[in-house]
Amino acid sequence: MKPHQDPMGAPAHGEQRTSSRNPTQRAGRVPAAQTGLDETALLPASVSTPRLLLRCWEPADVPAAARAIAASIEHLRPWLPWTSNEPLPEDERRALFKGWNHDRLQGGSAHYGIFLNGHVVGAIGLRRRGQPQEVEIGYWLHVDHTGNGYAREAAAAVTAMAVQRADVKTVIIRHDPDNLASRLIPEELGFTPLATPPTTDDDEADQFWYTTRETWRPPDAAERPPRQTS
Ligand SMILES: CC(C)(COP(=O)(O)OP(=O)(O)OC[C@H]1O[C@@H](n2cnc3c(N)ncnc32)[C@H](O)[C@@H]1OP(=O)(O)O)[C@@H](O)C(=O)NCCC(=O)NCCS
Repeated sequence: MKPHQDPMGAPAHGEQRTSSRNPTQRAGRVPAAQTGLDETALLPASVSTPRLLLRCWEPADVPAAARAIAASIEHLRPWLPWTSNEPLPEDERRALFKGWNHDRLQGGSAHYGIFLNGHVVGAIGLRRRGQPQEVEIGYWLHVDHTGNGYAREAAAAVTAMAVQRADVKTVIIRHDPDNLASRLIPEELGFTPLATPPTTDDDEADQFWYTTRETWRPPDAAERPPRQTS
């Protein structure tokens, strides 16, 4: 992915507790009514999974997010070009989060922190792409929280939410062809590989996968295929 691309759910981690207040009632939020958009036109502010809460980043999450990225930087750097801007000054990260929330309230993309028992364990984003009714999922986990299926669980929940929306037809996941850990997520979730990348896309070297309302089948943990060990 190229450096200018949306970081897709940037910051996260830490064994840092975040506020337990209702995420949809935090200070600083602009009610959807003020944007002239109906709530149903917006991607949701939060999504729950069996183990995780995915919720939009708040300014109060900035310290935990910064710690997560700092601790994971070598793990993230090979795959996420935005890491070249790290460490981001605190005020810039706060402005980034505010901008993301503003964007969502205008009907745009959603950037969620992935929280486990109030701790940041990663991030996942749902970006509205250039094509109409197409959204792209991006994700990363804190280095200490890989190997637990969190990214797969979060991606499954976001996909399930997205394909139910009237304004979404196609859900895309893309990754560097060398990024096996990332590739396993769409593969195991039953996404279909796109043989030819979208010609309008800005990085044709990436491997693309997609699913639609018609083809999406929620995963059953019991069906999870065994991984190659070598
Ligand atoms: C890509 C990335 C999010 C994948 O993380 P991950 O932890 O390997 O992925 P998952 O959350 O799906 O977890 C799968 C692992 O959890 C294990 N696991 C444990 N419990 C599980 C469960 N209930 N369900 C599924 N997997 C489970 C699996 O065996 C697997 O472990 P393995 O890799 O040792 O075989 C992570 O490597 C990362 O953050 N990479 C850097 C950033 C990046 O590349 N982002 C994507 C850019 S396109």
